[in-house]
Amino acid sequence: MNHRVLSLKYRPQKFDELTGQVHIVLSLKGAINSGRIGHAFLFAGPRGVGKTTAARIFAKSLNCVEGPTVHPCQKCQSCREITLSRNIDVIEIDGASNNGVDEIRNLRETVQYGALHGKYRIYIIDEVHMLSIQAFNALLKTLEEPPPSVKFVLATTNQEKVPQTIQSRCERYIFKRLSIKEISGRLKFITEREQIKIAESAVHDIATRADGSVRDAESILEQLVSFVEGTISENDILRLAGSMSRQFYFDLMQQILQRNHSSVLRALNTSIENGAEPLEVYRGLVDYLRAALLTGSKLPPELLDLPEDDIKNIRSLALSRDQVMSMLEILLDAEDMIKRSMNSRVATELLLCRLIETVERPQGKPDNARPADDKQEILRILQTQSPKLAAVLQNSSLKVEGEKVNVYVENDFAGKMLLSSRDLLETTFRKIFRRGMALHVEVVSKNIRNDIEDQIKVLFDGEEVR
Ligand SMILES: Nc1ncnc2c1ncn2[C@@H]1O[C@H](COP(=O)(O)OP(=O)(O)O)[C@@H](O)[C@H]1O
Ligand SMILES: [Mg+2]
Ligand SMILES: [Zn+2]
Repeated sequence: MNHRVLSLKYRPQKFDELTGQVHIVLSLKGAINSGRIGHAFLFAGPRGVGKTTAARIFAKSLNCVEGPTVHPCQKCQSCREITLSRNIDVIEIDGASNNGVDEIRNLRETVQYGALHGKYRIYIIDEVHMLSIQAFNALLKTLEEPPPSVKFVLATTNQEKVPQTIQSRCERYIFKRLSIKEISGRLKFITEREQIKIAESAVHDIATRADGSVRDAESILEQLVSFVEGTISENDILRLAGSMSRQFYFDLMQQILQRNHSSVLRALNTSIENGAEPLEVYRGLVDYLRAALLTGSKLPPELLDLPEDDIKNIRSLALSRDQVMSMLEILLDAEDMIKRSMNSRVATELLLCRLIETVERPQGKPDNARPADDKQEILRILQTQSPKLAAVLQNSSLKVEGEKVNVYVENDFAGKMLLSSRDLLETTFRKIFRRGMALHVEVVSKNIRNDIEDQIKVLFDGEEVR
């Protein structure tokens, strides 16, 4: 079953379908009815509580042929297109994606033309707090003097990170976590419609685990539906938490990568005690690594069919393609052994130990590691893959700055050599820093390099960066 099915199928299309958020619905309806509609809105609150949904319904209300109305007809072209996220006047921008700046710049140019078909052109900027400073500045200019037919809905899960200058130009709407009762109600509605058999206590349990997010509740329900035959019980949820969830495999992979034998075996045994079959863990692991393989490929993310958080988790593992492939090979080679073994628990334990053996040595490093070690670590890994590159790097200075690794080299040749191996270097950085780090190369004269070295020494209490 496609995990997106439920949350998409049950995305509310009118204000009255939204669970909770009564105060938001009341004031948005009030604004629409009064005809005094502001031009910029900030929708703040935790994830999966209806921010994007409300923004789309709001857009629908404004652009419906009968609008502005609190009861959009759902039938006119505008309403139908907005339901399908295909309306030319409703533009959704993801602030978390890299091209945020370009899109905002683009926005400044297109904004002046106003609406193309509908009455309003509505920009929905998701995760607005992730925009870069430049993008914020560009946005601010637009917010100062927007054309009358343009509306902005800025959504964020992190209001504090949105600059005050932006916030003060918006009407603020604070979305709340939903109560267990509200989420249970929504789950019951969905399960009845879908004819999913589920125990009352299980509904309550999912609602509790969802921690206020309807989307999380829907996602848990979906995973259960795909695993469980018959009536979903509380016990199934325990198993889901134990051995079926992607979180379980993420944790397991983390322990494998850190070569933590005891944690790995403990995780397996806990899940077996909670009712999982070793074969089920084996299959789950194969699925997870398959997902890791696809995540690393250049496939567009929507083809991956995984929730964003899971994709982020997988990326943060910083598995190399080779690593994933060799792990998958080991697993698939052992398929018969696992299936036929009289003692599948021991067989699975053995297999997990073999996976650990593919990991060179503990790769996890605390974030506050010293730059001196960083350079050594990078050289150590590069040494085996490209000794030439390692030599060039050995002779340059290295400075870590946020999401960047600045490398200062003395001549063009060295600079070009590093840049032409960007992929290899960035993969290596990823292994060391356990997050995406961009390579940044600067050619500097010997004197300047000495200066930089001095500065770095001062920055890191005189520690040598060699
Ligand atoms: N208040 C709500 N009432 C009903 N369903 C909701 C609500 N909030 C979220 N959902 C469900 O979660 C999905 C994602 O919601 P979304 O509006 O994108 O959340 P947000 O933007 O706050 O992260 C929706 O498609 C819907 O299925
Ligand atoms: Mg959203
Ligand atoms: Zn309509």
